[in-house]
Amino acid sequence: MSILTLKNVSKSFGGVRAVNGVSTSVQPGELFGVIGPNGAGKTSLFNLITGLIQPDEGIVLLNGIDITHKSPEQIACLGIARTYQTIRLFDTMTVRENVMVGGHIGLDYSLFDVLFRRRSFIFRETELKERVDKLLDTVGLLKRANDTASELSYGEQRRLELARALAAKPKLLMLDEPAAGMNNREASELALLLRRLVSDGELTVLLIEHNVGMILNLCDKIAVMNFGKKLAEGLPNEVRNDSAVVEAYLGKGS
Ligand SMILES: Nc1ncnc2c1ncn2[C@@H]1O[C@H](COP(=O)(O)OP(=O)(O)OP(=O)(O)O)[C@@H](O)[C@H]1O
Ligand SMILES: [Mg+2]
Repeated sequence: MSILTLKNVSKSFGGVRAVNGVSTSVQPGELFGVIGPNGAGKTSLFNLITGLIQPDEGIVLLNGIDITHKSPEQIACLGIARTYQTIRLFDTMTVRENVMVGGHIGLDYSLFDVLFRRRSFIFRETELKERVDKLLDTVGLLKRANDTASELSYGEQRRLELARALAAKPKLLMLDEPAAGMNNREASELALLLRRLVSDGELTVLLIEHNVGMILNLCDKIAVMNFGKKLAEGLPNEVRNDSAVVEAYLGKGS
């Protein structure tokens, strides 16, 4: 079964059809890329999947469950985590604390447990801290665990967001331009890390990127958007050679 299915999803803002009848499906364990020019509707599509905006029509299924009109919190609990095009970190908190926040999704201790620091609470916090440090190690930030988030470079902040999203133990991880502002070396390292995460376990990644070279090298499957519509979808080679794609996007400036 597909992990994510979109059926004819549309969303307009005033006269702008930001997302226009998009259907697709993502398979478990896939690294699925979404590309398209500025304003193509990529972020709006992510917002529709994660419940930040509601579609005018169409449905979104996660593992066969209809999540179309669920809240962002409910959708997060069902296993989708995401990052944003604009970095959203808690600047004055430490690197470790930022990731701990991501790990609290789905933990079910009560206010009573927290206030009285019951054993179950302390045990889970200790367990969470260990898991968080492992994630910081995975993204290469363990040495920076006690620094505040604002002290990190742009590329490091992007990796911190990735760690925070992973702390929620998502089944589907959605990244909106995770390599934006990274230099080539950082972007290649990120690509390797994403490939490793997908190969390691049960993670599926949906990725928006303007770095077309990175997407073509990294992804199993790619959807191309333009003016809210899905223009093409397929393997990297198919997309690379699609004449409509070349004309609308890849051919730009080449
Ligand atoms: N909340 C909103 N209110 C009004 N218009 C919006 C809103 N969100 C998106 N749009 C419009 O919808 C269209 C698609 O925008 P979107 O941000 O989804 O594109 P994008 O493909 O992510 O672009 P970029 O590559 O620049 O990030 C644009 O015309 C944008 O101005
Ligand atoms: Mg966008």
